Amino acid sequence: MQGHKLIYHNNIFSEIEIVKNLQTEIFGRKEIHIFNETDSTNIQAFRIAEGGAAEGSIIIAESQTGGKGRLGRKWISPSGKNLYLSMIIRPQIPVINAPRLTIVTAAALSETLDSIGVSAHKIKWPNDMLFDGKKLSGILAEMKGDGSTINFIIIGVGVNINSTADNYPDEIKDSVISLKEITGSEVDRIKFLNSFLLHFEKNYLDFLQGRFPEIIDKWIIKSEIINQKINVTDYNNTFTGIVTGITPDGNLILKTGNGTCYVSSGDINFLE
Ligand code: BTN
Repeated sequence: MQGHKLIYHNNIFSEIEIVKNLQTEIFGRKEIHIFNETDSTNIQAFRIAEGGAAEGSIIIAESQTGGKGRLGRKWISPSGKNLYLSMIIRPQIPVINAPRLTIVTAAALSETLDSIGVSAHKIKWPNDMLFDGKKLSGILAEMKGDGSTINFIIIGVGVNINSTADNYPDEIKDSVISLKEITGSEVDRIKFLNSFLLHFEKNYLDFLQGRFPEIIDKWIIKSEIINQKINVTDYNNTFTGIVTGITPDGNLILKTGNGTCYVSSGDINFLE
């Protein structure tokens, strides 16, 4: 616990419980910032990392007023129900390999869900966790670096833990699901957080030691995307084709009517 520091921001999450149950060596062993309400834990984490916070520092909030999703979307963050977590990492890896960290995170999240019996979840490319086709969690990684060096990466993770449909606006309430709705009972957010941090730490250290191929194998099994006919829409374009593989960075290899294309981000729909 050397170097461990707790910073209070008018929280109601129990910081003492978090530390008491931690089994990690790095994550949650540096700074823990807990907010009752914040705009976005990723924004806070970015600021805290710019101030020099060590790898392994974590930021959590009871609610977010400006939770950020992928592709500029909002992440609806009802108060006191779910997990809104951002982790600071400072990997010494080539910038080009940074996207791999979202795959590492998804693999860790998937293992955490398996560990509480929610093994029927699926990873929807690139990194959404779905259950019964509904969204259970999402990952948003943001990096600060220059062209060749990573200064830090913020890994943001949102998991719907105890929320219910009435916590969401009408437009999305039928497309989201929580662990409470899946398992039929309240899930302890702190236990889930601790378990996730442990799984993340293990996968992250494996990744740093060159074991990314094993991690991507786990991820592919849960994503059930190979050989599927899909269309994928990014900001401006839609591509249709059969997924023939995944590149080492998690990009889709898509066989289309015009040849092969590689897609790094977007939303997919299964067509058959
Ligand atoms: C997505 O699926 O679009 C990604 C959602 C990521 C949401 C989490 S919640 C904690 C962290 N803070 C944010 O503002 N976003 C991420």
